[in-house]
Amino acid sequence: MICLHGIIYVGKSKHFGISYLGANMKEKFYITTPIYYPSGKWHIGTCYTTIICDALARYKRMQGYDVFYLTGTDEHGQKIQKVAAAANTEVKTYIDGVVGELKKLWELLDISYDKFIRTTDEEHEKAVQKIFKKLYDKGDIYKSEYEGWYCTPCEAFWTKTQLVDGKCPDCGRSVDLTKEESYFFRLSKYQKRIEKLIEEDKEFLQPTTRQNEMLNNFIRPGLQDLCVSRTSFDWGVKVPFDPKHVVYVWIDALVNYITALGYEGEDDSLFKKYWPADVHMMGKEIIRFHSIIWPAILMALDLPLPKKVYGHGWLMFNNDKMSKSKGNIVDPFILCERYGVDALRYYMLREVPFGQDGNFTNEIFLKLRNSDLANDLGNLVSRVTAMVAQYFDGIIPKPEKEEEVDKSLKAMAEEMYPSVTASMDKMYVPEALECIFKVIQRANKYIDECAPWILAKSEEGKTRLKTVLYNLCETIRMSAVILQPFLTQTPAKIFKKLGIEEGELTSFASLEKFGSDISGRKVDKGEQLFQRIDIEKELKVMDAILDEQKKLAEKNKKEEKKVENVVDIQEITIDDFAKIALKVGKVVECQKVEKADKLLCSKIDLGEGQPRTIVSGIAKYYTPEEMIGKQVIVVTNLKPVKLRGIESQGMVLCASDEEGNLALIAPEKSMKSGSEVR
Ligand code: MSP
Repeated sequence: MICLHGIIYVGKSKHFGISYLGANMKEKFYITTPIYYPSGKWHIGTCYTTIICDALARYKRMQGYDVFYLTGTDEHGQKIQKVAAAANTEVKTYIDGVVGELKKLWELLDISYDKFIRTTDEEHEKAVQKIFKKLYDKGDIYKSEYEGWYCTPCEAFWTKTQLVDGKCPDCGRSVDLTKEESYFFRLSKYQKRIEKLIEEDKEFLQPTTRQNEMLNNFIRPGLQDLCVSRTSFDWGVKVPFDPKHVVYVWIDALVNYITALGYEGEDDSLFKKYWPADVHMMGKEIIRFHSIIWPAILMALDLPLPKKVYGHGWLMFNNDKMSKSKGNIVDPFILCERYGVDALRYYMLREVPFGQDGNFTNEIFLKLRNSDLANDLGNLVSRVTAMVAQYFDGIIPKPEKEEEVDKSLKAMAEEMYPSVTASMDKMYVPEALECIFKVIQRANKYIDECAPWILAKSEEGKTRLKTVLYNLCETIRMSAVILQPFLTQTPAKIFKKLGIEEGELTSFASLEKFGSDISGRKVDKGEQLFQRIDIEKELKVMDAILDEQKKLAEKNKKEEKKVENVVDIQEITIDDFAKIALKVGKVVECQKVEKADKLLCSKIDLGEGQPRTIVSGIAKYYTPEEMIGKQVIVVTNLKPVKLRGIESQGMVLCASDEEGNLALIAPEKSMKSGSEVR
């Protein structure tokens, strides 16, 4: 066995399938998260992909793989440019602040990434330009004109038929009709190869349910060429040979998986070593980009394809994926500070059935922490160390007298590594943890079966007690060793309690056989690993925290509203404006609309002979009597709509502010009804 940089490489054996002759022979494992939008709205759902990847990366590292774990930020695009503009900050400065926060979050959660790429990194930007040019020279990118629908929050293009009720099919928000000169990627050319890839390589897209989803919803209906440049904003990587275009943000983002390794950069040694990726991990909403567009780009670049694209489910909060807390604390900083990083990591890794959606509530979170971490694991460790202290002066005894009952505990402990590995290979992370906790539960049961407090009463019993306590310490050690990729803080505390230093006894190699040399070490009972929580009491504390957050949110709401308004407002041309027919009108009749608190129905003279009927949501601000005789400005060419059964033939313009005030807009001096407003 050799030890290099703290990693122990083991010889080939039944369970430890990789054989190493030295560092150069190590098998590589390249794993990626998507790169995150620097939205600044981090909640525990956002941390899900990163924590899962972290557990997988740590597991592989402990197995002896040469792991490269990539994460980062996706910083270009219209959305972020608008948010920064609304915050009155230069875009890069704005993003730098947010990225700093994100890095703090990953540090807090012990995310062991090997590289954090930012799409504003100069090296990445240059490589994106080279890739774009390469595809253009090859004829896989060509210039044409785009006309279609664009969802800015998702940065996604849609055809009219793909829209659902005229809204973005992914997020349900409004889309903008966009027409501009654009470059296109010949996605259609790769249709057959992509279809074949998903149909035949059953390992490529996981879980398998996602395969039919992609084939039936997107690939088989026909892949259309993809618009890959924009001209209506400039926060992006410029197309090198046509700089009024910026590269479509998803192309810029997807290629991060290779530019991060130096592809088309000055030093591509990492690329040569790690590409293709072993796993691209992501939430299910972005599988389409990773299992269709990304492989097509790689095919066009003549590069090998990633081995696996895995689309996990979402962490939901009362059926909502987004951050709105709805009675739950979803701020990872608060949760970690109060309950520990390991409690949060454990919840994420254990509670969400992998590949499916999972739910988060304060209550389940606290219950799981109590039952698994405080009761099963914490109690086991404190009971066993206390007994070693009480009966053997704190020194772990040597086993002397084996009995039948020991066999099943030992067998379970020895089976743990191969079973957990089998689960991790399939990325069944909750199952992997379940297996470890079954061993921990078995050890608790073993204490009850062996009743050490009775054994301690006789000399013969004390001989047997040595074996019992040794077996328990060894089971705890083995569990702590294998827990290291999942919980980043607790295993080290356990090792300290057992008097074990980091090294051979904390490595995966030590899991192969039950019976390591831990006898003679001095245990240190120390503090409880996890204090039990009084759930009812704590839920009240959590509610109080939420109230505080609510107040703060109210305070920030006005600011956010300003930002939202800017994000939604689109630049229009004078021709667009000319399409709106605004006229001066005079209210000649007005009454309340029955069973509608907010509505007034007015007859407005617009100089057309017959007054028009117009329904407006202003009943809280004006009485019908106040309205009569007022001059107003009316949008006269709006498509009529029925409100409470009344056909409204236009819209009266009003001004409103964040304090909830509303005022009608009127000409500054009396004007003839029907006068045009320009
Ligand atoms: N920027 C794109 C990815 C480009 S990759 C070439 C993006 N970013 S994101 O910030 O919106 O999402 C990052 C990851 O967080 C995704 O895997 C997404 O699914 C995940 N999650 C965000 N909220 C989530 C939950 N509530 N639950 C689980 N994961 C979710 O998409």
